[in-house]
Amino acid sequence: MNILHISDLHFGPRHWEGDDQILLEKLNSFNADIVINTGDSTTDGLEDEYIAAGLFLAGIKCKDVLSTIGNHDKRNMRSHELFQKYIYNTEIIHIPESVQTQKKHLFLNREITKVRENFTDINFIKSISINGKSVLIINIDSNELYSDDGFVEKEVLDVVSERINRLEYDLPLLLTHHSILGTDECPLKNSSVLIDFVQKHKIEYVFCGHTHELELMRTTDLYHGHTFFHFMCGSLSSCNHSNDDNMFLYYENFGSNDMSIHIVRIFLEGGTIRFKEERILFGKM
Ligand SMILES: [Fe+2]
Repeated sequence: MNILHISDLHFGPRHWEGDDQILLEKLNSFNADIVINTGDSTTDGLEDEYIAAGLFLAGIKCKDVLSTIGNHDKRNMRSHELFQKYIYNTEIIHIPESVQTQKKHLFLNREITKVRENFTDINFIKSISINGKSVLIINIDSNELYSDDGFVEKEVLDVVSERINRLEYDLPLLLTHHSILGTDECPLKNSSVLIDFVQKHKIEYVFCGHTHELELMRTTDLYHGHTFFHFMCGSLSSCNHSNDDNMFLYYENFGSNDMSIHIVRIFLEGGTIRFKEERILFGKM
């Protein structure tokens, strides 16, 4: 099984000046069974940015392109609707409005906003069968509406947990926008809640984006005895600070003993795109 991991496309003002068609051809030259997009597909969550991001993602030749929502995508009260309309339309896991919650703007005021759907979190699970193995994608919305910092709602995670417990699967993969190990400027403020969730479901692989930096980690909790891998992908196609490269990741033979990670860095040199590829044997991480 092969997985392509992209992140932080940032359509809108922060989108790069490179040729998206060449980028698409490069992505499509890999043989991915699943494509994971870990959020910030837009710059400001505007409808035209969502449309452009959706068109780009539709150009990826893979049956299962799964996207998570990022803080930049969640900057207006229609963000959750636009995300489902243009990026990824699936059954969202809700909680009742009567439940006591801590996450700000988790429910919009129906009287004032007149939105059709007033629950703003995009959480979903999807089961995908690959080579006889059942992969369970668990997508958790780590964003709080209007904020760059992340926050996860425990009550939401409990409902997602109930859904997971009803299923049988071989390989659970967690997708989230913010790092759950992060110490960046706009971190997931209550990341311990999501780490508890990872331990509870024995999730061994977590995928994220957000910082525009590459970070490949393996972490072990000596008390709980749980180990997980944490893959943070840099930005695919944003304008970056000078020390961040555009990039994407390709996990070859994912979950097997001969798994490897291809780090594909992307450079713009006088309008031409150059790719520089490096391969890490997973066993040597
Ligand atoms: Fe972000």
